[in-house]
Amino acid sequence: MDLLLKKKKILVTGGSKGIGLACATVLASEGADIIISSRTAHNLEIAGKRAGGHKGELHLFQADVSVKEDVEALGEFVKSRFGYLDGLIINSGGPPLGSAMSHTDEEWITAVNTLLLSAVRLTRVFVPNMQERKFGRIINISSTGVKQPIQGLVLSNSIRQAAGAYLKTLSAEVAKDNVFINSLLPGSTDTERLLSLHEAIAGNTGKSVDEVISIRKSSIPAGKFGDPSDLAGLAAFLLSERNGYITGQSISVDGGLVSFPL
Ligand SMILES: NC(=O)c1ccc[n+]([C@@H]2O[C@H](COP(=O)([O-])OP(=O)(O)OC[C@H]3O[C@@H](n4cnc5c(N)ncnc54)[C@H](OP(=O)(O)O)[C@@H]3O)[C@@H](O)[C@H]2O)c1
Repeated sequence: MDLLLKKKKILVTGGSKGIGLACATVLASEGADIIISSRTAHNLEIAGKRAGGHKGELHLFQADVSVKEDVEALGEFVKSRFGYLDGLIINSGGPPLGSAMSHTDEEWITAVNTLLLSAVRLTRVFVPNMQERKFGRIINISSTGVKQPIQGLVLSNSIRQAAGAYLKTLSAEVAKDNVFINSLLPGSTDTERLLSLHEAIAGNTGKSVDEVISIRKSSIPAGKFGDPSDLAGLAAFLLSERNGYITGQSISVDGGLVSFPL
C-alpha cells in the first residue's frame, strides 16, 4: 500500500535514537520530508547518517522539548524550512526509575516538563496551522504504563497519564478539522533506554542483566522484546492520509503484555 507520504512534512522530536529514529527512518524511506530534533548534536549527526540517503529532505535541529524556548525555536525552524507541518511525532527520553515516594519535587517537575508540558507546548505551536490547513496527524510516544502501571517507574506511570488525558481532550476538539491525535504505547522495545533500565534493575536487585532480561521476556506473551520498527510501521500509517478515521486512541505495541486493556 502506498501511504501517500511523499513530500509530507513531518517533525520527529526525540528522533535521534531508538523508537524516534526508527520512525524517522521509515518515514524518510516513504519519501516524507523530515526534521529530526533532539538535545545533542552528536546524536543528531549519527541519526542524520542513519535516516538520510532517501529522496526527501532531511533536517536536524537541536532542541530539548522540556524547555519552552527550545520548543518555540523548533517552531521557527519548521516555519523556515517547511512553512507548515503535516505530521508530528512527540517523543523524548523516559524519566529515571524510582518507587512511588522516592522522587524529589525537582525530579517531578523535570518529568512534567519533559512528558507533559512538551506535548502541551508542541501542540500549541503546531496544531492551529494544521486546523487552518484542514490536515494534521500527531502521534505521542507514551508507554503501556498508562494502562498497567510499571513497578519502579512512578514518574512515567503518573505523568504520561496526564499527557494522554490532555491529548485525548485535544483530539476531540480538533478532529472536525481533520487533525487526528493518537498515542502509541510501547511495551519492552529493544533500545538503549531498555538496556539502561535493565542495568538499573540489575544493580538494584543483585541479579545479572541477562537474568533480568530473561525474567522480563518470560512475562511477555510474545516471548520477546519488540523492535523499534514494530512501532515505526504503525506510526507511518497513523501519520498518513490512509488513516481516515482513527483518532483519540491509545494503542499498545507490547507483544500482548497488558493483560486487560482499559
Ligand atoms: N524502549 C522501551 O522499551 C520503552 C517502553 C515504554 C516507553 N518507552 C518510552 O518511549 C520513548 C522513547 O524510548 P526509546 O527507548 O527510544 O528511548 P531512547 O533510546 O533513550 O531515545 C530517546 C531519544 O529522545 C531524545 N531525547 C531525550 N530527552 C529529550 C528531550 N528532553 N528533548 C528532546 N529529545 C530528547 C534522545 O536524544 P538526545 O539524548 O540527543 O536528546 C533520543 O533521541 C521514551 O519516552 C521511553 O520512556 C520506551
